[in-house]
Amino acid sequence: MMRTRPLKVALLGCGVVGSEVARIMTTHAEDLAARIGAPVELAGIAVRRPDRVREGVDPALVTTDAAGLAAREDVDVVVEVIGGIEPARGLITRAFENGASVVTANKALLAEDGPTLHEAAEKHGGDLFYEAAVAAAIPLVRPLRESLAGDKVNRVLGIVNGTTNFILDRMESTGAGYGEALDEAMALGYAEADPTADVEGFDAAAKAAILAGLAFHTRVRLDDVHREGLTEITAGDIASAKRMGCTVKLLAICERSADGRSVTARVHPAMIPLSHPLASVREAYNAVFVESDAAGQLMFYGPGAGGSPTASAVLGDLVAACRNKVNGARGPGESAYTQLPVSPMGDVVTRYHISLDVADKPGVLAQVATVFAEHDVSIDTVRQQGKDGEAWLVVVTHRAPDAALTATVEALRNLDTVRGVASIMRVEGE
Ligand code: HSE
Repeated sequence: MMRTRPLKVALLGCGVVGSEVARIMTTHAEDLAARIGAPVELAGIAVRRPDRVREGVDPALVTTDAAGLAAREDVDVVVEVIGGIEPARGLITRAFENGASVVTANKALLAEDGPTLHEAAEKHGGDLFYEAAVAAAIPLVRPLRESLAGDKVNRVLGIVNGTTNFILDRMESTGAGYGEALDEAMALGYAEADPTADVEGFDAAAKAAILAGLAFHTRVRLDDVHREGLTEITAGDIASAKRMGCTVKLLAICERSADGRSVTARVHPAMIPLSHPLASVREAYNAVFVESDAAGQLMFYGPGAGGSPTASAVLGDLVAACRNKVNGARGPGESAYTQLPVSPMGDVVTRYHISLDVADKPGVLAQVATVFAEHDVSIDTVRQQGKDGEAWLVVVTHRAPDAALTATVEALRNLDTVRGVASIMRVEGE
């Protein structure tokens, strides 16, 4: 039987995502009520600029007093789509103290200080749901938190940033340089006015921290994630990848170590073979592989950004939080019992693709090969191109610890016969 007292929702933030949440809550009110078992309605919408016209949003609900709204006694669920660390953290904590559950899309806050939010949820008996924080509409948080709770996840590998995937896709399909592709991403509204969080990999690193924490039942923070963006990627790198039958993607990779005693999390551009399913993820789409003992390989694919897809994830969480309120139940809390340490990037075992500008004379190849051997790095392939004293050596290694590969590159830079290290990129997905 449907209970009659409506559940009240406080919406903090009414930008691209918030306004879509408010709109769908209104247009789908009857369906949502039927799925929850109680009507659900907005108690208020906190905004910074109250004068802005928001289509489909009732102006009577709008307030600039976010703290007052989050602390209202009659609010059952607080939806936070403001982003950033403060005031979001204070508002969420206040909501839990007030007995509300929280739905948030705030990846930066979860990656920076997730434990504080989980502890507040635990202490006050609320739900903390955040499907929208990772890859928008693509279900990833709930599968890791619930569907795979009986399995052992060993690896999460994927494309979790749409803006950078769009840029790399354009560079590959049109031969454009990084700057030109970024301009196009901005003109089409994919990249923000300040694209730093996307192109420097901060956005993907926050998502990697969240995914690694869920996958391995341990705490992983943004600072634990090795991060490299794509601002240094050139049209030459993309062409080089093509020659190898590969493409370049900005990957988030979270792995359990071979002995199972530690984990790693990293975000960096990497070459992957064109035959790998991630190679065909085009434009601003996201895709994530999850590898586990019993399930094997699972792939999740879809739109990882944008108002509507992100609102879809927020509303899914909202329904779950409301159902729990109706049933007097709670969803899963934080699971960090393994307390596995996060190893540094140097311990990661990977492969490098290195382009060297070298002198074309006898003994150079032998010298270069010796440097690899001295660092215990085995060479897989070498290709030479160029003429008239100009030569390029393209070396692809076998798998070796990243620290050994980095040291090899440093030593190569010091050789008189190496005029420059033109590009270094990891090779993944084989
Ligand atoms: N800016 C992100 C992206 C979406 O381009 O994927 C929000 O995390």
